[in-house]
Amino acid sequence: MSKKILFLTFFMTILITITFAEGMQETQLIAEPEYNMSDPCIACHVAVTPGILTGYGKSKHIESNVSCQACHTAHEDDPTGFNHNGFEITVIPSPKYCEQCHSDEVAQYNNSKHAWAAFMGQ
Ligand code: HEC
Ligand code: HEC
Ligand code: HEC
Repeated sequence: MSKKILFLTFFMTILITITFAEGMQETQLIAEPEYNMSDPCIACHVAVTPGILTGYGKSKHIESNVSCQACHTAHEDDPTGFNHNGFEITVIPSPKYCEQCHSDEVAQYNNSKHAWAAFMGQ
């Protein structure tokens, strides 16, 4: 091999390595947002259902430190409530579960399902 080709190969290898290393760093940043590990639901779900946490992590709720339980703890009169690893939860919280924090939007929901859809779409 001529010196020129040797030099070019060396140069390209460094370029590819740098590009790859930067790509890896970005992947890690996206994959590991900061979760509140003192939340018992998060602590276990990080391991078992990371996909659900990614969705949750993107939302305003995790930024505002709203816990999983704030939405999923089953109300006493909710027939969908069941014991899940020692916690009474529901899988599908209805708008009633949002009322304590979003009373205006839930009042609107009761009048117009469209207003609720607009709220959820944000
Ligand atoms: C010890 C581990 C563990 C803890 C603690 C835990 N979960 Fe889970 N959760 C799981 C696993 C595993 C699954 C998937 C299998 C299943 O449905 O049990 C799951 C499933 C779910 C589901 C879907 C259930 C379904 O039938 O589709 C919801 C909702 C849920 N968890 C919410 C919570 C909430 C809210 C908390 C905290 C109050 C919590 N989990 C605490 C392990 C855990
Ligand atoms: C702001 C309210 C809210 C918070 C906070 C919240 N959830 Fe949910 N979750 C819901 C609603 C509403 C549904 C019903 C399905 C849907 O609309 O996505 C749901 C559905 C689920 C499901 C079943 C549906 C699926 O995608 O498989 C699981 C599992 C779950 N949540 C786990 C969690 C865990 C774990 C946390 C905490 C990290 C959490 N949720 C925090 C509102 C919430
Ligand atoms: C414990 C309080 C709490 C509960 C319960 C709660 N939220 Fe929230 N929610 C917040 C906070 C805090 C924010 C972020 C600040 C804001 O935008 O108002 C937020 C933001 C939102 C946003 C984004 C609004 C925007 O401005 O972009 C939506 C949509 C939303 N919540 C839907 C729901 C739904 C649906 C439920 C019930 C399943 C629910 N929330 C339950 C506290 C809560």
